[in-house]
Amino acid sequence: MAEKPVKIGIVGFGTVGAGVAKIILEKADTIAAKTGLRLQLACAVDLDTTSQRPVTLPDGILTDDINRLLDDDSISIGLELVGGTTIAKDIQLKMITAGKDVVTANKALLAEYGSELFAAAHKNNRCIAFEASCAGSIPIVSALRTSLAANNIQAMYGILNGTCNYILTNMTEKGADFDTVLKEAQQKGYAEADPTLDINGGDSAHKLAILSSLAFGCQISLDDIYVKGIEAISRDDIRFGGEMGYVLKLLAIGQKDIDNNVWLRVHPSFIKNSDRLASVGGPFNAVSVFGDAAGHLMLYGRGAGMMPTASAVVADIIDVALGNSATTFKSLNLKPPAQCNCLIQKIDTLQSRFYIRLMCKDRPGVIAQWSKVLANNKISISGAIQREGRTPDNTVPVVISTHPSPEKNVAAAVEDMAKLESIGAKPVCIRIVDIPED
Ligand code: HSE
Repeated sequence: MAEKPVKIGIVGFGTVGAGVAKIILEKADTIAAKTGLRLQLACAVDLDTTSQRPVTLPDGILTDDINRLLDDDSISIGLELVGGTTIAKDIQLKMITAGKDVVTANKALLAEYGSELFAAAHKNNRCIAFEASCAGSIPIVSALRTSLAANNIQAMYGILNGTCNYILTNMTEKGADFDTVLKEAQQKGYAEADPTLDINGGDSAHKLAILSSLAFGCQISLDDIYVKGIEAISRDDIRFGGEMGYVLKLLAIGQKDIDNNVWLRVHPSFIKNSDRLASVGGPFNAVSVFGDAAGHLMLYGRGAGMMPTASAVVADIIDVALGNSATTFKSLNLKPPAQCNCLIQKIDTLQSRFYIRLMCKDRPGVIAQWSKVLANNKISISGAIQREGRTPDNTVPVVISTHPSPEKNVAAAVEDMAKLESIGAKPVCIRIVDIPED
């Protein structure tokens, strides 16, 4: 079979860009044998052309001139690996109007401006491939687009941020301290340049917006997603939750009920230690998907880092070059929620279970006070722990879990409990998520 040459230009020669170049330079023969495509790196564009990278490019490939890509008609695919939502958007639009198909890992850009970029690509008869934007090496985009197309997706529970999972796993297993583990995650290349978006849940929300658009077939906006990060998580809560049989994960959750109500949320979540997602540790990502025909399946793999993300980018290059992406992209017809029967609901319409930690003054009658507040708000206690021994400020931690309760009632109860003179620090409140069993 004659090989088909495919010329590629990269814009943004950072960690992932270097990984992609490494694969193209070192594995071109393997890819040609498997696909019949001969990938060629025509240029790598970056403002920084002097820093050492983990790959050595042939002379003349690294440039700071984007026109090397835009003006070269022999380059059919442009990789936007710049990240962010400003320059990157402009670059993608320029690539599209210059007649290039686009491959990107930029979840923030797609979550915010996906509709506009997709419309521009459709208008110019080009495609945008974005497998690498969600969960690194895991082929979740193609699973939702094609492999699971026969299903109404009922729910997705995702560990979608490798940095957070790395931090929480190390806090759980080694009792490590938050800031130290975050630094490690940055050194290992899991975290974003600004890790704020990792730990505040923003990165997971970007990925959830993309995946839930595909799962539920409509345009999801970031404003539709409730987001809470892991910044305030303490080792004590991870430990107390562990004593109750739970493991803490930052979950990105999309659910749709039979009346087409959709809830989208990212927040720290205690899940049963027997759930499959509980054993997903370190920088790994996983997504549990529940479809009405397929039932439960879980996809697991490396969600961050140079080579896992580069693997997904190259998969997209191959799909574009083979013509598969052009076909699937044409059929991607995401409508605003109102036009496709999705009724996006706010989190306060949900019933949730909660873990609540109270720092109680250790004297008679205190339990009666806060349990009355719970009763007044119609919240039923499911479990409770109080250990002997006081903290230096003469309080004792009391940890309770609740039965499913309206979010509003729990918020009101926590506010009322915080006002009690017998409660020391502000109560800690973390959702418990009961993922359906197989
Ligand atoms: N910063 C991301 C993470 C990398 O930690 O998962 C890929 O999006």
